[in-house]
Amino acid sequence: MKIAIASDHGGFELKEFLKSHYQREGLVLHDLGTHSSDSCDYPLIAQKMTSALLRKEFDLGVLICGTGIGISIAANRVKGIRAALLYNKEVARLAREHNNANIAVFGGRMQKPEDVIEYFDIFRQTAFEGGRHLRRINELDDMPEGE
Ligand code: RB5
Repeated sequence: MKIAIASDHGGFELKEFLKSHYQREGLVLHDLGTHSSDSCDYPLIAQKMTSALLRKEFDLGVLICGTGIGISIAANRVKGIRAALLYNKEVARLAREHNNANIAVFGGRMQKPEDVIEYFDIFRQTAFEGGRHLRRINELDDMPEGE
């Protein structure tokens, strides 16, 4: 499974922590930026991730900003993207089983790194259930824009 990770400055520290942690576990998180703690704009970071996912360069993404909110809003503007802010273990499981989320989102200034690892491990190891949930996911992509 190919996984990409990206953050703004508010998530930079957590991004670096996760990369090192998973490298020790033998899992590469492909870093799409940002590459320093200098201030940058989360919509542009989200866009890098959503484009790479839609080009099918990666199977899953991780996005991080300070709260997890701004970067979620930005990513979810893009059709075919389902970004889920993971704040407990059950949500981490359901985001995959029911929502087929393709991006896990975290708040770098709000969440403990050890919790984030626990939630992301559940997320990446859980499969989509399909069935009635597939219909709902298709309805998401059929939603008209601007109405
Ligand atoms: C940046 O200061 C902060 O606004 C951003 O990381 C994020 O929390 C926005 O939702």
